Amino acid sequence: PSKAVENGGVSALPSQEYGHVVSPDPSDGEPTVSITVVGASGDLAKKKIFPALFALYYEDCLPKHFTIFGYARSKMTDAELRTMVSRTLTCRIDKRENCNEKMEQFLKRCFYHSGQYDLEENFAELDKKLKEHEAGRVSNRLFYLSIPPNIFIDVAKSASRSASSKNGWTRVIVEKPFGRDSESSAALTSGLKQYLDEDQIFRIDHYLGKELVENLSVLRFSNLIFEPLWSRQYIRNVQLIFSEDFGTEGRGGYFDHYGIIRDIMQNHLLQILALFAMETPVSLDAEDIRNEKVKVLRSMRPLQLEDVVIGQYKSHTKGGVTHPGYTDDKTVPKGSLTPTFAAAALFIDNPRWDGVPFLMKAGKALHTKGAEIRVQFRHVPGNLYKRSFGSDIDRATNELVIRVQPDEAIYLKINNKVPGLEMRLDRSNLNLLYSSRYSKEIPDAYERLLLDAIEGERRLFIRSDELNAAWELFTPLLKELEEKKIAPELYPYGSRGPVGAHYLAAKYNVRWG
Ligand code: NDP
Ligand code: BG6
Repeated sequence: PSKAVENGGVSALPSQEYGHVVSPDPSDGEPTVSITVVGASGDLAKKKIFPALFALYYEDCLPKHFTIFGYARSKMTDAELRTMVSRTLTCRIDKRENCNEKMEQFLKRCFYHSGQYDLEENFAELDKKLKEHEAGRVSNRLFYLSIPPNIFIDVAKSASRSASSKNGWTRVIVEKPFGRDSESSAALTSGLKQYLDEDQIFRIDHYLGKELVENLSVLRFSNLIFEPLWSRQYIRNVQLIFSEDFGTEGRGGYFDHYGIIRDIMQNHLLQILALFAMETPVSLDAEDIRNEKVKVLRSMRPLQLEDVVIGQYKSHTKGGVTHPGYTDDKTVPKGSLTPTFAAAALFIDNPRWDGVPFLMKAGKALHTKGAEIRVQFRHVPGNLYKRSFGSDIDRATNELVIRVQPDEAIYLKINNKVPGLEMRLDRSNLNLLYSSRYSKEIPDAYERLLLDAIEGERRLFIRSDELNAAWELFTPLLKELEEKKIAPELYPYGSRGPVGAHYLAAKYNVRWG
C-alpha cells in the first residue's frame, strides 16, 4: 500500500526534491497547512475542534497560509458549514473584546466537502479542492478523524491514497476510543499502519492537553522541594479523581459499549498516573518522555477484581426534579450492566512506588464535577504535636492537591498554629489559585493539542506501545467483569457514588480526599 509522505516538521521543503508537479512557491515560499476535520457535522467538531482552531487563529498561532475543510457525508454548502461553525465560536481569549471581525476572517478560510468515508474518489475530489487553496505551495496536511472508530481505517486508507500531501507532511489525529481491549486496539493499530507510519498517527488524549496536567512535570522537576519527596518513602497514597455531575445524556449509545473504565480510567486517569509516577526523562523530547511513561505502565500489576468497585446511577428525585437513571435512557439497553462509576486500586511494582496505592475514582452523575490529583504524605515521625491533634492525627498529614478542573489550582495542606496565646493547630492551605495569580484565560486542551500536531510535537500524544501497555492492565479485568456479568452497585443520581468505594479505600488505609 502507498504510504503518505512524512517529513516530520512544518518547515518548507523544496518541492523539486520530490520531483513532481508542484510549481515553485510563487510568493513568499512559506508552506500551507490544510486541516481537514473528518466528521465535521458531528458533536465534537462543533463543540471542540472548530472553536479550538478559531482560538489558535485569534492568537496568531496558525501558520500564515492555512485552510480548513470540513468533511462528512451530510450535505452542506460552505456557507452552511460557516453558519454551523459560527454558532459555537466564542471570544474565549478575551471575553470583553468584540471578535466578530476575526471570526469573519476565520470563517472565510473554512470550506466543506461532502463525501463517503470509504470512497477514494470522494477524497480525490477533496484533494483537488485542497490543491486549489494550496496554490502551488508546499502543502502540509492534517486530518482530524472526529468520527466513530469503526470507520478510522476506511478514512486512513482513502485519505492516504487520494488526499495525502505529495510534497509536505501528512498527519492524522485520531480520537479515542482506541479499541475496547488489547485485541481490538492491536487490530486498529495494525489497520492504521497499513496506510500510515506510526509517526503520522497522533492519538489524542485530551487530558494530556489540560494546563495542570502539562504543569505536572514542571512542578515536579523544576522545584527542589517536590522531587525528593516523590516516592514510597514519603507518599502514602495518590488519588486520581474524575467526576461529572451529569449522566450520559445524549451519549448513552456510545457509552454503553464502553463504560466508565474504558471511557475515563484506561486513558485519561492512567495517562496522568504515568506522568505523575515516571522517572526523570533524559530530556523534554517526546520520545524520552514517552519512554519513561511506558516503563511505568509496564511496571504496573494488571487490575484485580477484588481491587475494583463498579457502580451505576439510578433515578433520583431532589427538590421536585427527577433525574433519570442510566438505564432510563432510551439508547441504553434495558438491564445494562455497564458501569457509570468505578474505583480501583493500582500498584506500580518498582523501587520508587513499591506498595503505594494509586487509587482511581471516576463517575458520572455524581454530586460534583471536577478532576484532581491528590497526594497524601506520610505521618511526621515522632510528631511533637501529636497530642494537639488527638484522634485526628490521621488527617494531619500533608496533602498536595492538583485541581485540574474546574477552578484550576495547586494547594498544599499544612499544619499551622492558630494565632493566639494557646497552642492550637489548624489545617491550612498554601494555595495557588490560577484565577487569582494569572489573568490570562486558560487554553482549552484541544488548542494545545492541535497546535502540537501542526508543529509535529508528539510529547502529548499516545505512542502505540503505551497504548498496548495500557490495555494490558485493563483487559483481563474488563473481560472478567463482562464474563461473570458482575452487577454494578446502584447509586442515586447526584450522590457521592457507591459506598463500596469507601471500603476499597479503607482496605488500603486511605480516606478519599
Ligand atoms: P458523532 O457520533 O457526532 O459522529 C461524528 C460524525 O461522524 C457524524 O456527524 C456523522 O457524520 C459521522 N458518523 C456518525 N456515525 C457514523 C456511522 N455509524 N458511520 C459513518 N459515519 C458516522 O461523534 P462525535 O462528534 O461525538 O465524536 C467523534 C469522535 O470523538 C468519536 O470517536 C468519539 O468517541 C470521540 N469523542 C467524542 C467526544 C465528545 O465530547 N463528543 C469526547 C471524546 C471523544 P455524517 O453522517 O455527516 O457523515
Ligand atoms: C471524554 C469522555 O473523553 O471526556 C466523556 O468520553 C467525558 O465521557 C469527557 O465527558 C470529559 O472531558 P472534559 O474535558 O469535559 O473533562
